[in-house]
Amino acid sequence: MNIIYQLPKSVSNQIAAGEVVQRPSSVVKELLENSIDAKAKNIKIIIKDAGKQSVTIIDDGIGMSKEDAIKCFNRHSTSKLKNAEDLFKIKTMGFRGEALSSISAVSDIILKTKSIDDEMGYEINIKNSKIIKGHEIDKNQGTSIIIKNIFFTVPARRNFLKSNKVELKYIIDEFIRIAISNSNINFILLNNELEIYNLKSSTLSKRIISLFKKSYEQQLVLCDEKFENISIHGFIGKPEYSKKTRGEQFIFVNNRFIKSNYLNHAIIKSYEGLIEEKKYPFYILFLQINTSEVDINIHPTKTEVKFEDEKLLYNLMNSSVSKSLSSHHIMPSIDFNSDINFSNKTVIEYDNKEYQNIRPSNSNNKQNWKKIFDEVKIENSNDKLIFENDLIEIKNKPVQFLDNFIFKQLGKKLLVFNHKNCQQRILYEKFKNSSLNSNANSQQNLFPKYIEFNNSDFQLIKEILNDIKSIGFNIDIFGKNSVIINGVPTGLDDINEEEIIEGFIEEIKKNNQNLKAEKKEIILKSFSRKAKIINNKRLNHKEMESIIDRLFACSNPKYSPDGELNFVELSDDKIKNLF
Ligand SMILES: Nc1ncnc2c1ncn2[C@@H]1O[C@H](COP(=O)(O)OP(=O)(O)OP(=O)(O)O)[C@@H](O)[C@H]1O
Ligand SMILES: [Mg+2]
Repeated sequence: MNIIYQLPKSVSNQIAAGEVVQRPSSVVKELLENSIDAKAKNIKIIIKDAGKQSVTIIDDGIGMSKEDAIKCFNRHSTSKLKNAEDLFKIKTMGFRGEALSSISAVSDIILKTKSIDDEMGYEINIKNSKIIKGHEIDKNQGTSIIIKNIFFTVPARRNFLKSNKVELKYIIDEFIRIAISNSNINFILLNNELEIYNLKSSTLSKRIISLFKKSYEQQLVLCDEKFENISIHGFIGKPEYSKKTRGEQFIFVNNRFIKSNYLNHAIIKSYEGLIEEKKYPFYILFLQINTSEVDINIHPTKTEVKFEDEKLLYNLMNSSVSKSLSSHHIMPSIDFNSDINFSNKTVIEYDNKEYQNIRPSNSNNKQNWKKIFDEVKIENSNDKLIFENDLIEIKNKPVQFLDNFIFKQLGKKLLVFNHKNCQQRILYEKFKNSSLNSNANSQQNLFPKYIEFNNSDFQLIKEILNDIKSIGFNIDIFGKNSVIINGVPTGLDDINEEEIIEGFIEEIKKNNQNLKAEKKEIILKSFSRKAKIINNKRLNHKEMESIIDRLFACSNPKYSPDGELNFVELSDDKIKNLF
């Protein structure tokens, strides 16, 4: 007996629709992508009941002829692809020719469209994947499409939908992705007659501000890098504005929003040491890459992609973001016109070629120090200015305020340093460098110190013993579950070895990190926190100058290792506004 038979089109479409149309927001995404591919300049989206009642999209794109309007609901019918080779040259958002057929399998549709070549427009009504009505209409160029009763044929799906609030959030998420990557298009989004967005065509930065908040203006750092066949551009958030919740991280590949844990990791890695753990930075980054080097045909929703050379992209992404961050740390909006104690040594060591080759991700003190100098040198190219600045230098000695703050005038700005945070950054980098260069010095303890651990903590200590040694502890295993400490890192008075070592164990346990590099980072951070040695004491001018000097010699002077600001700047305008 033959048991195989061909499923009717309405059933096969419904099965296939499951992948493309998961909820009303998928409809919004697909229709918006179609309008963009149709080169629309104005797009209006009208949502009723978070899309459960209807989704309407009106565009002024190229529209369709009567014949195309009839064909566009057939599975695998597209104007964007002709043969298999075209799959590697895709420049449009759509290409699979299945979105409209999928949507028509799970909803009622009214399509009205007119192309520039036609006198009259055409209207089609669809129910159950079938055209039930079609007739000519009077219409402007473009397409409007109404999707009603979504999932009426699949009650299980309809019941599966979340509350209107949640479904609307999904729609807005899709809308934002499209609006970011198409800032040249005017968009209006309405839900139940309420205008949620009315976006005018603009630059990317202005679009970001109208989508998010005006205050984002001061939170953004430009990222703009070009490599041979790849470019990365967009904006990244300053570390101090990172948030506890995710949601403002966007990566676009050839203008298409994608999800990639791998590339996200490359970006987050650049923020290491700048933001607190469990906080997420803002970023909107566009990766432009040869279409033959990326496969977007992995999944019907096209948010997953495969790259030919994923590792290369990881490194480029990481170094581009690090570069933007480091330029922002070193030369934020501060006017370095006058100050910073540049030693002559720095000038002599300056080597133009070496500077040009700096890869920000592995920049070291000296390089950044040179970079600061370089920028200032350009601005100070006028002799007279330098002379005046020298006078400012003498007059403007730093002042300590409430023990933990240092005030220092720099040109027309007042810098307020958080002394504790600065100390932590200086110590962190000092111990990190000596640990990297294996030249940490120890000072001998007068009496050796023994510390005993329980079995599991002892196992942990054994794992991190070399890392602890690398920052200058003279420490060794001694007996069954204990260690002996014969020396501590130099330059630190009054440190409680036991408390510090136990602190390492606590932090490692808390962070539950398995990677060796991450353990070392935890140890360094924990140590720098514990070793904020000269806190809360009166400082003389020399000490304050030295702290500021040493801070700016750090590779990352702006933030503490825990991601807190080391200093803030008050411009004369800001100060005037206080009155
Ligand atoms: N708003 C529109 N304006 C003009 N033409 C449109 C519009 N929407 C759809 N079309 C036409 O209908 C065709 C089918 O659209 P559909 O979304 O089903 O497939 P696609 O966009 O080609 O590929 P994908 O399934 O990947 O989205 C498109 O190729 C396009 O020619
Ligand atoms: Mg499409």
